[in-house]
This record gives sequence, structure tokens and C-alpha cells, in this order.
Amino acid sequence: MRTVLLIGASRGIGFELARQYIEEGWRVIATARSDEGLAKLKAMGAETLRLDVANPASNSGLAWQLDGEK
Ligand SMILES: NC(=O)c1ccc[n+]([C@@H]2O[C@H](COP(=O)([O-])OP(=O)(O)OC[C@H]3O[C@@H](n4cnc5c(N)ncnc54)[C@H](OP(=O)(O)O)[C@@H]3O)[C@@H](O)[C@H]2O)c1
Repeated sequence: MRTVLLIGASRGIGFELARQYIEEGWRVIATARSDEGLAKLKAMGAETLRLDVANPASNSGLAWQLDGEK
């Protein structure tokens, strides 16, 4: 299964891309900052990770959570 990582997918272009990739059978790893955004993405079938790109610790956390992903 092909995998895509979408950063900032709680709404707008990121959310719509997540919707379309899931519809086409891709494995979607999508990030959001809020509980609400994460819940919306999970309900749609995405795997979710919490990320605020403006926060260095949050970025470091993303790196180890994606360890081993292709
Ligand atoms: N060049 C062009 O023609 C063109 C056209 C359209 C859009 N754009 C650009 O494309 C981008 C997306 O557009 P959009 O309409 O989808 O915008 P949007 O509806 O405002 O969505 C922005 C997304 O980015 C997330 N985000 C914001 N700050 C973040 C942070 N610090 N860390 C992680 N995620 C963060 C938001 O999450 P939250 O829900 O947590 O805030 C949201 O999911 C924007 O930068 C826009 O300016 C360019």
C-alpha cells in the first residue's frame, strides 16, 4: 500500500488531500495540532500524529514517530 504523509491536514487543502488519498486506497499519515483535527482525520480513516511545526520539540517527536517509515 502506498503511503503519504500530510502535514497540517486538519482543514483546507491538507484535509481534502487526505480525503482523496484515502478514497483512492492510500495509507494516509496526517498531522494536526488540535484534538478536534486529529479526531476528524481519524474518523476519515487516517493515521494521525500531533504536530505543531513551529515547535522544535514537536518536530523532533515527529522524526522518531516516523522512524522506519518509507
Ligand atoms: N500558492 C497558491 O496559489 C496557494 C493557493 C492556496 C493555498 N495556498 C497556501 O497553502 C497553504 C494551505 O492552504 P489552506 O487553504 O489549506 O489553509 P488553511 O485552511 O488555513 O489550513 C492550514 C492548515 O495548516 C495547519 N497549520 C497552521 N499552522 C500550523 C503549525 N504551526 N503546525 C502545524 N500545522 C499548522 C492548520 O492546522 P490548524 O487547524 O491546527 O490551525 C491547517 O490544517 C497555505 O499556506 C496557503 O497560503 C497557496
